[in-house]
Amino acid sequence: MTPSPIIQLEQLEKTYDLGAVQVHALRGVSLDIEAGSYVAIMGPSGSGKSTMLNVLGCLDRPTSGRYYLGGEDVSQMDDDQLSAVRGKRLGFIFQSYNLIEQLTVIENIHVPLFYQGRDLGECYDDCLKLAEMVGLGNRIHHRPKELSGGQQQRVAIARSLANDPLMILADEPTGNLDSTTGTEILGLLDDLNRHGTTIILVTHGEEVAARAHRVLHMKDGLIDREIQQRTLLRVAAELEGGSREEAPAS
Ligand SMILES: Nc1ncnc2c1ncn2[C@@H]1O[C@H](COP(=O)(O)OP(=O)(O)OP(=O)(O)O)[C@@H](O)[C@H]1O
Ligand SMILES: [Mg+2]
Repeated sequence: MTPSPIIQLEQLEKTYDLGAVQVHALRGVSLDIEAGSYVAIMGPSGSGKSTMLNVLGCLDRPTSGRYYLGGEDVSQMDDDQLSAVRGKRLGFIFQSYNLIEQLTVIENIHVPLFYQGRDLGECYDDCLKLAEMVGLGNRIHHRPKELSGGQQQRVAIARSLANDPLMILADEPTGNLDSTTGTEILGLLDDLNRHGTTIILVTHGEEVAARAHRVLHMKDGLIDREIQQRTLLRVAAELEGGSREEAPAS
């Protein structure tokens, strides 16, 4: 069976209009991503990685071009429609965790379900299961500032899963963590991907990207290079063993 693309981009452009100047952050990106893939986006600062992730995550609209998510054209949707797509299908993990300080761990995990109109009482068991899955079953009544950075990022991962998303978008999810904690977080993402969740992750770290099936390299608002990795690689040394191939950007 041919895997179906979860994402299809056709000549996607994003221009920020600052009045006096226009910034062409995406300059016509065309790309298919298969459901169940693990894709890393790399590239220098300012190359358009976060812009790309924001458009893919329906947090922002492209200026022109088409974006089909699960076959549906989301590029022309209004804010309410985009927020409904995000709420139903997408999960987000950010470098700075973006938890709500006033809420406890379990309340933070519940946030996406709150936006679906479900109260915590009704989905308490589901939220508890997610907290347990990320190893925080014994911390559910703590608030973010009573947790370590790695624990906070684990809450963010549990929260990103609450709406059972088709796809998780992560912008430098280990950027604020020490390497051991970062590796733990990446292990959680590997597990999710093994269970079928599509993952798109922006990173500056080669060793982080080494876990992905595909590495897209961006430069000046375009994907200028792509690396296909045959299997999920765990050890940087394997990379040097030549188990990945360079492919020209399509
Ligand atoms: N809200 C905005 N308004 C105007 N210009 C923006 C905005 N967001 C990003 N840009 C510009 O778009 C370009 C791409 O930015 P983007 O944030 O996507 O880069 P990035 O690859 O994520 O960089 P970094 O690795 O530093 O996070 C940059 O030139 C940036 O200055
Ligand atoms: Mg960025």
